[in-house]
Amino acid sequence: MSDATERIPTYITGLDEQMQGGIPKGHLCLLAGSSGSMKSSLGFAMLYNAVLEGRTSGIYVTLEQSKESLAGHMANMGMNVDDPRVRSNIAIIDLADLRVQLHEAGTADQVNWMSQLIKQLTNYRESIGFEVLVFDSLGAFFTLTQMENPRDETFRFFEACRRLGLTTFIICEMMGEMKNQFGEFGIEDYLSDGVLHLTMERVGDQINRKIAVVKMRHTNHTLGYHPLQWDSTAGKFTVR
Ligand SMILES: Nc1ncnc2c1ncn2[C@@H]1O[C@H](COP(=O)(O)OP(=O)(O)O)[C@@H](O)[C@H]1O
Ligand SMILES: [Mg+2]
Repeated sequence: MSDATERIPTYITGLDEQMQGGIPKGHLCLLAGSSGSMKSSLGFAMLYNAVLEGRTSGIYVTLEQSKESLAGHMANMGMNVDDPRVRSNIAIIDLADLRVQLHEAGTADQVNWMSQLIKQLTNYRESIGFEVLVFDSLGAFFTLTQMENPRDETFRFFEACRRLGLTTFIICEMMGEMKNQFGEFGIEDYLSDGVLHLTMERVGDQINRKIAVVKMRHTNHTLGYHPLQWDSTAGKFTVR
């Protein structure tokens, strides 16, 4: 089947081949899984590999951990976060940065955090022209900002990412009981173009990690859960 869609690979060896080469550019996808299922690692590794290949530039918004903690984790995993291509093509923004930007706007009291976030992303889009956004995570954003209408704000955020033409990965933390719902607010799932689901399962003393492409619009993709492993030498995930 011929396919003219431009795609951003997941850089998960073995998976891209089973989804026509990757995620269609401009799509908004969820990376969903429980705590420790490697959502942040996967989100960062995709951006990292794309940047090393000179394919794109991106922003990683980390609200669950500081940028130092995030970079430290990725370095521990074997990614070279000090590579000049990485330093100049991935901007990591954490809560402290967002707070400073808000403070500079001088309206911290009555400001709508979502409007402010969208404004910041728009500024970055116009000034540095980044193309990929990893947002880690929607749940943390709403907890930290205590926004009253997460569903409305989620809708607004997703629309803004699309309008900006970004390829977006939204990280969603799944709680123990959530079986068939991949977002926390009950709407992310159907508002998104794709869902990657990461799972962890204990078998004896071993933890097995798996990944599934639950949904990917405009893509003929594999179904089912594939064992997922991190290859620190290659700096990539692989599936079997
Ligand atoms: N080199 C490694 N190989 C495989 N797993 C690792 C490695 N280093 C850390 N981990 C695991 O990665 C997990 C954290 O990954 P992270 O991407 O932060 O998960 P999440 O964002 O889903 O909470 C930890 O539970 C840790 O066990
Ligand atoms: Mg995380």
